Amino acid sequence: MGYIEQWRSDTPGSLHCTHLNNAGASLMPTKVIDAIKLHIDLEAKMGGYEAAAHQADAIGQFYDQAANLFRAQSKNFAFTANATDAYNRALSSIEFKPGDVILTTSNDYVSNFVVFLNLKKRWGIQIKIVSNLPSGEIDLDALRDDIIKFQPTVFSLTHIPTNSGLIQPADAAGQICKENEIIYLVDGCQSAGQLDVNLTAMQCDFYSATFRKFLRGPRGAGFLYVSDRMLDNNYHPLFLDMRGADWIEEENFSLKDNATRFEDWENSYASLLGASAALAYANSVGMPVIQNRVQLLANQLREKLSNIERVSVMDRGTQKGAIVTAHIESLDPQLLKSALRQEKINCSFGTKLNALLDFKEKKIDWIVRFAPHYFNTEEEIKKPVAVIQDILH
Ligand SMILES: Cc1ncc(COP(=O)(O)O)c(C=O)c1O
Repeated sequence: MGYIEQWRSDTPGSLHCTHLNNAGASLMPTKVIDAIKLHIDLEAKMGGYEAAAHQADAIGQFYDQAANLFRAQSKNFAFTANATDAYNRALSSIEFKPGDVILTTSNDYVSNFVVFLNLKKRWGIQIKIVSNLPSGEIDLDALRDDIIKFQPTVFSLTHIPTNSGLIQPADAAGQICKENEIIYLVDGCQSAGQLDVNLTAMQCDFYSATFRKFLRGPRGAGFLYVSDRMLDNNYHPLFLDMRGADWIEEENFSLKDNATRFEDWENSYASLLGASAALAYANSVGMPVIQNRVQLLANQLREKLSNIERVSVMDRGTQKGAIVTAHIESLDPQLLKSALRQEKINCSFGTKLNALLDFKEKKIDWIVRFAPHYFNTEEEIKKPVAVIQDILH
């Protein structure tokens, strides 16, 4: 059996639909599904606490698998409920004072912006945005200048935005933040499991991600990477619990010495074990293989879509990732949505509510988003193209 056949036979969902919604939630491999079911069965038979004790070694492997995939150490990872939860725990560990600056980009994730605006209202922090190059990525010279000019407390970068194929230069930005001793917070929700991410090379202080997307894990699971620098300097989430700290004296607590200080005591261990199986599966396929194949498929799709009249591919960036977005002139997106659904082609649609600044700049009000993964075939890539051609002719 060839690789692609093997990946598809490991993915039961691939028999039932053309799944191009991997930037929304991917299809779980059988090993992930089995790990979750096994733990639920154990909880049913033994009791929840007893099942977790029984699986203690397997639970510990979650951190080793994450360290292996993202090239860091096991002690740097925390399990969280989702990417937003991970991101907010990281942000909450920074002691902002009125007037402090959060430096970010026009392509940062919508929920991150909502939190920045809330911090502005509540604590008077300021939000500054680094300008982009004409090709779409952030301008690294502007980042350097803005750091000198605004002396920000933190730079927040969404590695791959939710609504386009853009890949931001996260490693180069990390070097600039390091030179200037700025806290570097990376939203890796769309890059984890899609790109061969090396967190040590990126030099970030925090990297937040979710499992259900390109990592192919369950919904309701995420993780946070916390650098040694943040751990050594006692950064911890604002709302700690007894998982993250020990109550050692009436007026004092002591922090756990690893990133589990960013976790909650109560977790879905079935989801954590499913997430661990997803990390192990990605490790076994290999991130360079995954990255090359998703970019190959996405580029094929971009090329085919751009050859159709009235279709504009909206992705920017020198190097583009697995998220393919397009706008179709004078077409009701509902029409496209039902035609794709009829053919069992899974994808998603975005509006300006997903990325206000990016949509404003692109002067459009909707996009269709296709996100292939390595288990998709070249035949599947042709299917949405045929549906669009059919609607437009
Ligand atoms: C770039 C980016 N960041 C963060 C999130 C939020 O992830 P979650 O829903 O797991 O909190 C998403 C979800 O689409 C995303 O695309």
